[in-house]
Amino acid sequence: MQGIRIAIANQKGGVGKTTTAINLAAALAQRGKRVLLVDLDPQGNSTLSFINPEEITFSVYELLTEPSVDFKSVVHASPIANLSVLPSRISLAKLEGKLVGELDAPFRLKDRLDPVSRDYDVLVIDTPPTLGLITVNALVAATHLIIPIQSSYYALEGTDDLLETIEKVRQRPNPALRILGVVITMHDKRTALARDIREQIQKVFGGKVFDTVIAKSVRLEESPAYKESIFTFAPDSSGATDYYSLCEEVIERVEARTA
Ligand SMILES: Nc1ncnc2c1ncn2[C@@H]1O[C@H](COP(=O)(O)OP(=O)(O)OP(=O)(O)O)[C@@H](O)[C@H]1O
Ligand SMILES: [Mg+2]
Repeated sequence: MQGIRIAIANQKGGVGKTTTAINLAAALAQRGKRVLLVDLDPQGNSTLSFINPEEITFSVYELLTEPSVDFKSVVHASPIANLSVLPSRISLAKLEGKLVGELDAPFRLKDRLDPVSRDYDVLVIDTPPTLGLITVNALVAATHLIIPIQSSYYALEGTDDLLETIEKVRQRPNPALRILGVVITMHDKRTALARDIREQIQKVFGGKVFDTVIAKSVRLEESPAYKESIFTFAPDSSGATDYYSLCEEVIERVEARTA
């Protein structure tokens, strides 16, 4: 595994993108992969899970807008071995306005990551709940995409727009982009509704749906407040088991396709 860049995207809010980004990145790091977690959400939730905001001088916003700011001055080590973080702050919300009229606007992230990609085995990119320029930068820079879908009655609403954006990115800037998989999150396996929803998602995405389903878990909900991944916060919880198993599937799928 090398030069793999996995964007976690779904323009629906609160479906588990950040929870998946944080815990997949932590699991990959635990498996000995050199991981860079790229936070592209102005809310900075992934960043705050691992980094003290007072330690941030430059964030991904400066990396994408100021050529004089180099990668080294933005990247941070995290408390987890093998895991580094490219932090984000609320200033990133200005990106779209700042880059209006710039022809290379969708390529800013890719151009900054290309030279450092070989220093990592895998990049995990967390994105905001929009299909705007920030998410497009993630899709242009990524080799793979994971779509978290919340197990809820409106689970599939909005997926058409997401798939359309992916298709547009594939037609021109990034034909190599692949959907690595769809992960069902916040699943409550006791309910018949949740089983129906899983079937519906499988009808639309078929074999793309990961076998691993992330169960609804109080521990996962609590872990960000304690600034930890699920593996240190509650290593025996279902959330830890689920994200570990997702990580195994991710590695299998990536390796099956690059072999
Ligand atoms: N499996 C789970 N079980 C219970 N709660 C969860 C689970 N996964 C995520 N959550 C909680 O649901 C909320 C939304 O999750 P998260 O922040 O990961 O979503 P998101 O898609 O990144 O949201 P946004 O679109 O705002 O960036 C958070 O409070 C999170 O702690
Ligand atoms: Mg988020």
